[in-house]
Amino acid sequence: MDEDDTRRLLVDLAASLFARGFSVGSAGNISVRLADGYLITPTNSSLGRLDPARLARLDAGFAHVGGDRPSKEVFMHRAFYTARPEARAVVHLHSTMATAVACLPEVAPDNPIPPLTPYFVMRIGRRMPVVPYFRPGDPAMEPAIAAAARDARAALLANHGPVVCGASLTDAVYAAEEVEEAAKLFLLLRSASPRRLTEAQIEALLVAFG
Ligand code: 13P
Repeated sequence: MDEDDTRRLLVDLAASLFARGFSVGSAGNISVRLADGYLITPTNSSLGRLDPARLARLDAGFAHVGGDRPSKEVFMHRAFYTARPEARAVVHLHSTMATAVACLPEVAPDNPIPPLTPYFVMRIGRRMPVVPYFRPGDPAMEPAIAAAARDARAALLANHGPVVCGASLTDAVYAAEEVEEAAKLFLLLRSASPRRLTEAQIEALLVAFG
């Protein structure tokens, strides 16, 4: 896929997320790794109305080299790319259910959402830790996110929202959608005692799907 195709795909996926309520207002940001740098959504832009030509272009060192002013969360994306060399794209949302879980003080910070469904395990893996609260755009968040990203493909930022990476733009968006669905199931079933996937079932998923 060349850069123009990647720009169009990012805009289409972002519009789809916005149309389905995964993002409201100017919340959320998306980035993708290119051969020689990154594209990231401009700060204060709506995921519903991005212009492919105005996406911010970063060089391989994350310096702004073209397009509109980049998201203030560049460092959040950089933490994932640096900690996980296989990451080709990063999606950060304020999607409602995942953010709700990120506001609960009593959940297990190392892994708040139990393994209920195969697709959560397939898209996210075994763990999605909670990273302590920092204000949006605070660069002090980067080491905390990098620490979480070293052994998880996704994290919940306390009182803020989810951030996930993927092996492609499409993969990262699918993972962000799966995080939201898993959070919804977790909240729906909180007062019940749902059956969890067993360790053997989780292992079989990881062997088959990585
Ligand atoms: P930006 O508009 O700077 O990308 O910030 C949006 C956001 O989601 C902050 O967490």
